[in-house]
Amino acid sequence: MFNSISSQAHKLINLTKINKNNSKSKSKLITITSGKGGVGKSTFTANIAYLLTKRNLKVLVLDADIGLANMQVLFNVKPKYTLFDYIQSHKTLDEIIVQTAYKNLSLIAGKSSYKYAKIKNSLVFSRIINDIINLNKYDIILVDTSAGLNEYVQEFLSISHNILAITTTDPSALTDVYALIKMLSHEKEKLMLCFNHTQNYQIGELISNSLIKLAKNNMLKSNFMIEYIGNVSTSANISTTSRLRKLFVHEFASEVITKQLHKVIDSLLKNIK
Ligand SMILES: Nc1ncnc2c1ncn2[C@@H]1O[C@H](COP(=O)(O)OP(=O)(O)OP(=O)(O)O)[C@@H](O)[C@H]1O
Ligand SMILES: [Mg+2]
Repeated sequence: MFNSISSQAHKLINLTKINKNNSKSKSKLITITSGKGGVGKSTFTANIAYLLTKRNLKVLVLDADIGLANMQVLFNVKPKYTLFDYIQSHKTLDEIIVQTAYKNLSLIAGKSSYKYAKIKNSLVFSRIINDIINLNKYDIILVDTSAGLNEYVQEFLSISHNILAITTTDPSALTDVYALIKMLSHEKEKLMLCFNHTQNYQIGELISNSLIKLAKNNMLKSNFMIEYIGNVSTSANISTTSRLRKLFVHEFASEVITKQLHKVIDSLLKNIK
């Protein structure tokens, strides 16, 4: 899937070495991706991060969006250092991890318009993830990726056992999510799917089933699973709270969307390993 077979094999051999150390860690890594941009990945990630802390879990969010790093805005923090200071300036993890105003919720900020080519050094992100896992401090590590399936996103996908795709019912978003399914089916066992801007749970379920059928008809690997984990409706209050640098689920604890996200988390926690 990722570039040439030989470079991928090389990568996997190295990852096996890396992962040997952290097999005892409690930290579970979940990568949030989409294909199409602007479908709500970052908003979703920030809000479920908070809800996960409400379940007594310690959560770290890593903003891996190099196009438009906006987690610091959603969490209303002003980080001194970013992920790239760890990679390039040898800052320690402690120096780049920011505690947000929300208990048990920390952030590693990304950097907008970062030139990935500058650090095109295989396994550099795998190592950061590995180092965070080895801290054994966080129950859940959420990685918010940028839109598209570029090399940078692919590196995060390649190291994650738990991948969650956000999509909408928009045909172009579905086309992109199918491209993601095709790509992942070669290497992974499962993709969790959540529908944003979708009022009805059953609509998401119906479309997920169509995608599963399409995958079957196109003879994608038979043991690759697509797991529908729920839907999130549209609300103008989401954009408003984000603009005010607040979290929707914190401000509107008993709203429909917060309940939908709780349901998504129930399913997510059952599905991750
Ligand atoms: N369920 C929703 N209801 C209303 N507005 C939403 C919802 N989800 C996300 N939005 C809004 O949609 C816009 C895009 O969301 P967001 O930035 O989370 O998408 P993204 O997938 O992370 O985008 P990118 O691909 O650029 O990283 C934001 O203005 C956000 O407030
Ligand atoms: Mg985003």
